[in-house]
Amino acid sequence: MKVAPSILAADFTKLPEEIKKTEEAGADFLHLDIMDGVFVPNITFGPKIVETINRITAIPLDAHLMIVEPERYIDRFIEAGADWISFHAEATKNTNNCIKMIKSGSCKAGLAISPPTSWQEIEQYIAIIDFILIMTVNPGFCGQAFMPEVIPKIEEVHRHIDKNKLSCMIEVDGGVSPKNAGLLCNAGVNIVVAGASVYKSCDYNAAIKAMKCLKD
Ligand code: DX5
Ligand code: ZN
Repeated sequence: MKVAPSILAADFTKLPEEIKKTEEAGADFLHLDIMDGVFVPNITFGPKIVETINRITAIPLDAHLMIVEPERYIDRFIEAGADWISFHAEATKNTNNCIKMIKSGSCKAGLAISPPTSWQEIEQYIAIIDFILIMTVNPGFCGQAFMPEVIPKIEEVHRHIDKNKLSCMIEVDGGVSPKNAGLLCNAGVNIVVAGASVYKSCDYNAAIKAMKCLKD
């Protein structure tokens, strides 16, 4: 399983050091939570910061857009250097266009769904996206409790992908820690996002390793 630490939980007064430590700890991606204060009740940062982060790290950047009308900003995040870009199905009426825009920028295209959204609502897109981001908390803040009731949805999506021999990967975001990573791995998850469980731990390396489900 791959691990994408969410820098939202990092110490922003030491962001370059935090990113370096994340890199050295073996992270596979850097997860960047983009919030607009409209789609979610929180505001984070935009393309300028993504571009700055891109200059100081070689880790692929996984931008999670929690913004309304993502089609207005996707190009800006591509230009800023995001490698993987996901947007919320609940936030746009132009899902097909958004997927096309992301792919035409040579980025991996992901569609995110919040806990109340069923996977069947986006079933038609699973064959054309690179990854589905299944939220296990309501988007907006890091450090929230994992919602175990989302697990059946993850398993169903995994079965659907398997049955139809699709290449769509499954990313899970929200409250992931070494405690539930094994369970997610068994449910067919390919990538986990981890904020608090990495940045609030005293050993980033050990936390990331534990979530990759590797033994020492
Ligand atoms: C929530 C964000 C998550 C969050 C993860 O809206 O999308 O990526 O920062 O943080 P933890 O792992 O602490 O839930
Ligand atoms: Zn996220």
